[in-house]
Amino acid sequence: MLPKVFIAKPIPQTVRDYLGKFCEFAMWDKERPINRQELIEQISDREGLLTTSLITRIDEDLLLKAPNLRIVSNISVGYDNFDLEAMRKRQVLGTNTPDVLSDTVADLAIGLMLCSARRIVELNGFVKEGKWNAQISEELFGLDLHHQTLGIIGMGSIGLELARRARNGFKMDVLYHNRNRKIVAEEELGVRYCDLPTLLAKSDFVILLTPLTKDTKHLMGYKEFNLMKHSAFFLNISRGETVDEQALILALREEKIQGAALDVFSQEPINKNNPLLQFQNVITVPHIGSATLACRTEMAMLAAKNLAAGLMDIQPPNLVKE
Ligand code: DGY
Repeated sequence: MLPKVFIAKPIPQTVRDYLGKFCEFAMWDKERPINRQELIEQISDREGLLTTSLITRIDEDLLLKAPNLRIVSNISVGYDNFDLEAMRKRQVLGTNTPDVLSDTVADLAIGLMLCSARRIVELNGFVKEGKWNAQISEELFGLDLHHQTLGIIGMGSIGLELARRARNGFKMDVLYHNRNRKIVAEEELGVRYCDLPTLLAKSDFVILLTPLTKDTKHLMGYKEFNLMKHSAFFLNISRGETVDEQALILALREEKIQGAALDVFSQEPINKNNPLLQFQNVITVPHIGSATLACRTEMAMLAAKNLAAGLMDIQPPNLVKE
């Protein structure tokens, strides 16, 4: 008998065809996301779960209600949904999809930096609202991206791809802050390690790329925004919770920074009354870091391979260990 699997969000047909060879699966195919209760009902007799870090927490309470579960395979690099202690205790494996999304997310970071620096979103509105009726005066000028200083907080594989683009494409100076030094990147790309306060004080663009952990929760707060240049932009492509959102709102109100570009929020989808939506100098996108068809297909396939390995008692290629 084939193992039973639940897929918590729609995935491409090619990946379903692959999964069909080694498991019997049901898939959530509604447009709205599955909620926690519905997921728990679906996995009560399943051995495998294909999900993402954004759906629900895999904790003791959920695991108790899914006694047959052996592996949870995330279609995301993030795994902040895993309560690793609870999973270890119940011998449930957790996997993620690193690397395959790094280029795609790094592309978005460049896009957001360009939009911020050259005011592309704002000036698109300006043209469409029929306000372009004279020469472009200095008030509409933007800033250069090239030759500016980029500060990357969290130098994993997305950070490296971003640094490569920034150094080779835009001739930027790149500073980074990370748990550990990346000597190869320093030698290959000429990026420079520095402590967080120095990075914040020197960068024209500060980008947060860290995973969400207990150490990175609210890593950027009022004190940190205060250390940034008034002319600098802040970008978050990691998780909403890595930023104290109220502190960011205050920093924007007090013009401590020039603007922000955000892919992630403390509540997703964002509440339409969130003050962040009122600022003209804040660009918001709906958590689209890895959202291209090619990238999401690759991520889903990698997640399916991790799942297959786990169900066959082979160590999955992307087993999460800590
Ligand atoms: C990831 O892969 O973690 C992205 O943020 C999508 O969840």
